[in-house]
Amino acid sequence: MSPDRELRVSKIRNGTVIDHITGGQSLNVLAILGIDGSEEFSVSIGMNVPSDRLGHKDILKVEGRELSQSEVDVLSLIAPEATINIVRDYEVVEKNRVEPPAEVVGVLSCPNRNCISNDDEPVETRFTVMADGVRCDYCSEILRDRLAEHIDV
Ligand code: CTP
Repeated sequence: MSPDRELRVSKIRNGTVIDHITGGQSLNVLAILGIDGSEEFSVSIGMNVPSDRLGHKDILKVEGRELSQSEVDVLSLIAPEATINIVRDYEVVEKNRVEPPAEVVGVLSCPNRNCISNDDEPVETRFTVMADGVRCDYCSEILRDRLAEHIDV
């Protein structure tokens, strides 16, 4: 593509670029990160931009923020091809592909209101990751979509 026809989103100085997000999932990724626009830092969002590898992808550039392991674990469930680039002083200093964890502990709340993990008991939520969703270890409830609505970090 000729340079004047190419869309360019500014590079960031310090922060995280989450690249190769499954097309259409960037708003859910923002929900996982708890970013709703009320923060001070800049966020650039590219949705359904062309990608050689994925056809279409979303990309998020978050200035001045790095991700915790539990955020990356949940993100990997909705964007399994994502790459997390850590940027410092304009350089990519670390690049990691996400990997779905075997279990997600203490991050998601169970949608089953009768589940013991929703009682006042001191029980940490625990889900086993499957190919097409996650299963609560206590009540076997399966959570497929709407993972972002059940983040409890
Ligand atoms: N990026 C950025 N700001 C920086 C450095 C990089 O926004 N200061 C973005 C780039 O625009 C790109 C992503 O971070 O979208 C990864 O950068 P880089 O590793 O340089 O690009 P590629 O080699 O194309 O990445 P990949 O091989 O993972 O596709």
